[in-house]
Amino acid sequence: MKIIFRNFRVIDAFTDVTGSVIVDGGRIVDVVPDAVVPHGDGGLVFDGCGRLVLTSGFVDMHAHFREPGSSGKETLESASLAAARGGYTSVVCMANTSPPVDNEAAAISIKRRADAIGLISLYPAISLTEGMNGKKLSPYLAAGRSAVRTYSPPLLSEDGRDVADEGLLRTALRAAAEGGHTVSCHCDFGGEDAAVKRVLELGVDCRIHIAHVSAKGAVNLLRDHKSHAPESPVTAEATPHHIALTRGDAEASGAETFGKVAPPLRSEEHRLELIEGLRDGVIDVIATDHAPHTTDDKLNGAPGFSGLETAFAVCYTTLVKRYNFSLQKLFSLLSAEPARILGLSGCGAIAAGNNADIVVLDTERETVIDGDTFASRGKNTLFSGRKLYGSVVLTLHDGRVVYQA
Ligand code: DOR
Repeated sequence: MKIIFRNFRVIDAFTDVTGSVIVDGGRIVDVVPDAVVPHGDGGLVFDGCGRLVLTSGFVDMHAHFREPGSSGKETLESASLAAARGGYTSVVCMANTSPPVDNEAAAISIKRRADAIGLISLYPAISLTEGMNGKKLSPYLAAGRSAVRTYSPPLLSEDGRDVADEGLLRTALRAAAEGGHTVSCHCDFGGEDAAVKRVLELGVDCRIHIAHVSAKGAVNLLRDHKSHAPESPVTAEATPHHIALTRGDAEASGAETFGKVAPPLRSEEHRLELIEGLRDGVIDVIATDHAPHTTDDKLNGAPGFSGLETAFAVCYTTLVKRYNFSLQKLFSLLSAEPARILGLSGCGAIAAGNNADIVVLDTERETVIDGDTFASRGKNTLFSGRKLYGSVVLTLHDGRVVYQA
């Protein structure tokens, strides 16, 4: 179906114009830098009144969708809807399910179900080790380069835990590199700084992405690494909660219960270093680490926050409103860079020929966050009760409206 978005501020990491975007058959067919185009010839027309922002759908490199095994915490349906409500059109879901996703068939079955739900593009990550046991290579990696594949995950990851055995980690990274894969590393073995240092010094020629950087020392190690090796393919992410909150916020909600997350919320000094890391490009992307849990699980100390539905408002309020980041920079962090790192073609920019994965935002609108209204089954957020700027008005995926406020 043809859809015309007229009179929007069309802005992504590369463009900033007031104009119109025409969508047809799941693709962006034209971007017209005029304020007004004629009313549609039978298609759907949305008017941005020269004020609403239109950008490319957000891309989340790090979320936990919990299926198979923990549908009490989240289902593919509830997580997909949470993503659409948050403006996300492509999401990587982590492998720490029950059982863990350590083989291609398991990943394909999740992907097929998510495709049938049809709200987002979901890319299941596959683990580095078998059953995430940290003892031997996952069947996916062990099958080697010669295996016939129908699904190639944009990320391999053991997220949820680190691979303690350095020899095995090196073998896994070598196998990943041979297969052309990027590996998202959950760095906490021996502490975040030591774990980041270990990965950077392994010397394996693999595209490494550092998950949820939260510590000042880790940011500085990455800054050093990138300045000494500007061609290095190492990339890194920070989460909305680590850039907006500190230990005090965790303690106020119960450091071992509702405020618990891994890595933990740290001091203001750490938080400010993350902001600087994002500003100067040491940290490349924002990823939600959406980690839904039941209330009982949180009371029993399960780490994580539900993050998909608050990410844009938290990042817009923190980075743009408070720290004067440009909107273009924010959209680079939320869409263009994650799409580039994941190798998702047709994503990350509003351009003719790209996928019709679009989000419309009202940056002026203030909302009071209430976790109880989330589509996610995980209602736990430390942002409940906070007044934040920026809300998602509409999400278009593959040319179809998948969410409208
Ligand atoms: O807080 C977290 N929760 N951090 C992780 O690394 C894992 C995640 C989860 O799966 O709940």
